[in-house]
Amino acid sequence: MDTGRQCTAQKASDSFAEQVKAATWNAHGDAEQHGFIRALLAGRLPREGYAAMVAQHYFAYVALEEVGRGLADDPVAGAVIHPGLLRVPALERDLTVLYGPDWPDRIVPSPPTRTYVARIRQMADDPGGYVAHHYTRYLGDLSGGQFIRTIAARAYGLDGSGGVDFYVFDQLKSLPKFKEEYRSRLDRLPLNESARRRIIREAHLAYQLNVEVLDDLGRTHRAGLAA
Ligand code: HEM
Repeated sequence: MDTGRQCTAQKASDSFAEQVKAATWNAHGDAEQHGFIRALLAGRLPREGYAAMVAQHYFAYVALEEVGRGLADDPVAGAVIHPGLLRVPALERDLTVLYGPDWPDRIVPSPPTRTYVARIRQMADDPGGYVAHHYTRYLGDLSGGQFIRTIAARAYGLDGSGGVDFYVFDQLKSLPKFKEEYRSRLDRLPLNESARRRIIREAHLAYQLNVEVLDDLGRTHRAGLAA
């Protein structure tokens, strides 16, 4: 699948959104090519593994969205926050389908998820850093997440019955247009060069934290990961 890995070079003329993408595209490859994700995309991951990933997402998005509420009026973080992105209600529906109504008693954050959540919470007083975490997750959900949705729905027989709502953004009319608008918001952030470089560094960390969550999921749900 061509995911645009060719765009690694960074030109001085690139917009900030292009710079973030180019600077993190190798890290993106590590996430996209992770054994756990590859098993998921190949339809080889058992349903429990998929459910466990949704559970770990839940803890990260509760933190992302709580911190986001506190930063909604900030000129930097507020520029990317959008109600149509909020994922916690969809995650709660998916967890009900995947684990049953007692899902809150059946899921716990893994150690890497706890680290990821702690880092997201530190962004409460770092709006630029928050943008990095926001970008890494939501733009990913609007992109590769859409492949995951199709495959998970088919593999686990979930479409129409819930379980993949996390990937459904029905308040956003056109995902390509929304992503375009999101990127132009990144370009217009009222930030100097060093603040922009900081966002890129934090986005790298966000990818790394995501990979550590996937590593842990891979260790716990080995079935289907070989090959
Ligand atoms: C933890 C896993 C992943 C994360 C955190 C992630 C994150 C991201 C982010 C932040 C972007 C936006 C790049 C930009 O335009 O600035 C993106 C784009 C993209 N991702 Fe992923 N991704 C992940 C997995 C995947 C997977 C599994 C696939 C393929 C099945 C994929 C395919 C793509 C594609 C095709 C784009 C480009 C979309 C576009 O330019 O409109 N990603 N991803």
